[in-house]
Amino acid sequence: MSIDLPTIAPLIGNDPIAPGLRDRISAAREALGKRVLILGHHYQRDDVMEFTDARGDSLDLSMRASRTKDVEHVIFCGVHFMAETADILTPDSVKVILPDMRAGCSMADMADIDQVEHAWDVLCDATSEKIIPVTYINSTAALKAFCGRHDGAVCTSSNARSVVTWAFQHGKKLLFFPDQHLGRNTCHALGIPLDEMVMYDPHDPHEKSGGNDAEAYARSRVILWRGHCSVHQNFMPSHPDVMRARYPGIRILVHPECQFEVVQKADLVGSTRFIIETVKAAPAGSKWAIGTEHHLVNRLKNEHPEQFVSTLAPFACQCSTMFRISPEALCARLEELVAGKESNVIRVDGDTAHWATIALNRMLDMRD
Ligand code: 13P
Ligand code: SF4
Repeated sequence: MSIDLPTIAPLIGNDPIAPGLRDRISAAREALGKRVLILGHHYQRDDVMEFTDARGDSLDLSMRASRTKDVEHVIFCGVHFMAETADILTPDSVKVILPDMRAGCSMADMADIDQVEHAWDVLCDATSEKIIPVTYINSTAALKAFCGRHDGAVCTSSNARSVVTWAFQHGKKLLFFPDQHLGRNTCHALGIPLDEMVMYDPHDPHEKSGGNDAEAYARSRVILWRGHCSVHQNFMPSHPDVMRARYPGIRILVHPECQFEVVQKADLVGSTRFIIETVKAAPAGSKWAIGTEHHLVNRLKNEHPEQFVSTLAPFACQCSTMFRISPEALCARLEELVAGKESNVIRVDGDTAHWATIALNRMLDMRD
């Protein structure tokens, strides 16, 4: 059965904003003035994005947070690990609020500190070579602190190559968590063959050794954590083939959280910021099939009617946790602040924040 790829996905959009809500949000923002800063990640829905003071990818938003000092509250329209990162990078006087506490990240949930501590013991028993831990920013503050304590760093999809290059200047091996795909795609792009990478499975039922014997870890240069993004995991290696057959000349542009086989078939790969800048810079008549979260793809489609923009998959790949940040939740948090109350404040304890800052500062210094 043939499926009309570009017409299916755009049918799924935002619900219309509830009557009166736009006015209430605007009134609350006006009452709060410069005391509040609203940040939004590129995957946010349009009916939330319209109220943000600044938008960006994970690295941009971390940088923005690190420069923020004169506001009382940052309302972070994104997911939990992003709000945690903002709390670490802003001064103590700034409180960071996540509009809806259910906005987590399934990938960040795939590695916890006990599992990572255990993996570290397994690897250190297997090799005496220096291992540098690098965590993708999509992880808890405890994992960022782990990297700070062990001479490691945080990376985002905008600077993963630079951070991995840096890691190999400081150690012989790399432990990369929690996204196996970003780790594999980045290391392969830097010339490391797949057979020098091994996957550590935190759910290995046997021996709790991550699914490999010590020799495999000793031989490998890169140890990838078995984690993934449940949204980007949906893009399949067949999707670029289908789109190219259907739309000759179309270019495939994907996020590096996609599987290796998908990235290998793509014309271009990069962060959400890279995806936006690539489409913005392209001439009229360009054709794109984009492998990332569908709110961003739909926004690009609407902003660039002079080009053909489609999702890469025959269905909408939505980040359901990002989607939990609704205009209703944003309005409720703003109106609380106007009333002198606050809720959903994200706080990272001092010790964790101290060590996480070390790893985050390394990230802030690097861009691909
Ligand atoms: P970016 O850093 O590219 O914005 O990606 C964040 C993310 O969560 C992608 O799934
Ligand atoms: Fe996490 Fe994937 Fe959502 Fe990004 S798109 S926030 S990695 S679940």
